[in-house]
Amino acid sequence: MKVLVVGSGGREHALVWKLKSSRKVDKIFCAPGNGGICRHAKCVNIKADNIKALADFAHRNKINLTVVGPEAPLANGIVDEFHRRKLIIFGPDKMGARLESSKVFSKDFMRRYHIPTASFQVCATAAEAIGFCKTVQFPVVIKADGLAAGKGAVIVKDSEQARIVIEDMMLKKVFGSAGDRIVIESFLTGQEVSIMAIADSRTILPLLPSQDHKQAYDGDRGPNTGGMGAYCPVPFVTPEMLQQIDELILQPTINGLAKEDINYKGVLYAGLMLTATGPKVLEFNCRFGDPETQAVLPLLKSDLFEVMMAAANQKLSSVGKLDWHQGAAACVVMASRGYPGKYNTGIKISGLQNIKDNSSFIFHAGTERKGDRLVTSGGRVLGVTGMDRDLKQALNRAYRHISRIKFDGAMYRRDIGFRTAKPINQ
Ligand code: AMP
Ligand code: GLY
Repeated sequence: MKVLVVGSGGREHALVWKLKSSRKVDKIFCAPGNGGICRHAKCVNIKADNIKALADFAHRNKINLTVVGPEAPLANGIVDEFHRRKLIIFGPDKMGARLESSKVFSKDFMRRYHIPTASFQVCATAAEAIGFCKTVQFPVVIKADGLAAGKGAVIVKDSEQARIVIEDMMLKKVFGSAGDRIVIESFLTGQEVSIMAIADSRTILPLLPSQDHKQAYDGDRGPNTGGMGAYCPVPFVTPEMLQQIDELILQPTINGLAKEDINYKGVLYAGLMLTATGPKVLEFNCRFGDPETQAVLPLLKSDLFEVMMAAANQKLSSVGKLDWHQGAAACVVMASRGYPGKYNTGIKISGLQNIKDNSSFIFHAGTERKGDRLVTSGGRVLGVTGMDRDLKQALNRAYRHISRIKFDGAMYRRDIGFRTAKPINQ
């Protein structure tokens, strides 16, 4: 079978690596890929947002399954286009992707199906939003409706800060049309966890829970990033909690999607806050998380290709349960100095060739090959994942490798997993 993975980050590297291990996969392509992915897949120079060129490529090369990494092509209808051309693809269609691409749709959907989430108000004008903020108890979270590259949610402490954020989003349009409408929601406290699940419009199959680290610096300080590290599983998420999450969140979501005739064959990612009164949805994403995927997939024993194919053909119920390796995995992201703000690229990366360890994975994100040199090409550069019998050992393994990888300006958090374990050797 031939597979095409769309995207170029650490998530896509993990997907390529895992899919390639399937006995059923003979050939794997990645568009556009990166400097590490091209060691495992044939990289094709088509950008992830060029839907027509991707469909043409899949058609010409008789691709049996296309797997979409990032949200933008899903929100822009890549699945709809592939379906029109009778090409098999793993991902929700444009209507399904609104669970991520529109916070207003997502919150209204949760309200319709009684899915636990923070209480909220949708506002269509700045005056309405500023007026509403006179009635709330701070802090609140203000969210732009549309996609805003992970920057569209702001925690505000008082009405003056609320006014500034509302005006930025709705009048100055700092996120463009994504800020035409906003959601103002109550602030929740607790531990955050990521639950990714494979769905096929009828059945939903959760993967192991993971936890991301969104802020740039140790101790959850600094600006929000795409994610600086993740680990899997999350020890404080008990089997009882998982059952509750399934009953209160995953099942009602898949049932709601089916009721609305939404074609959702892909990953449903629920970003949850485990509050004192139970799990609540902070956000839905319509794709695999990054870096979560780099910590979750190494633990998956089941054949991911078979699972995705079953989902794409709406036969997920035949898969039964997923099999997992024992132990834990931890991914630590190495980023360029300055990320998530401005950073330099083209910096030589060295030390990777010294790492020979079957229980570790160096997933590439922002890297490219220049002749025989590997250089940086993005903010998040590498995801270093260690696997071991427990989280502490997995973290030690990841950090041990990180200490041997060098590039000028490399930065990484030294406290991944700090909410549950203190790694040694750092
Ligand atoms: P979102 O874009 O909705 O995922 O929000 C980004 C981040 O903001 C989340 O991962 C949380 O850390 C934080 N956040 C979002 N909504 C809330 C909320 N209602 N209460 C507390 N924190 C939140
Ligand atoms: N790591 C968060 C995300 O993928 O959205």
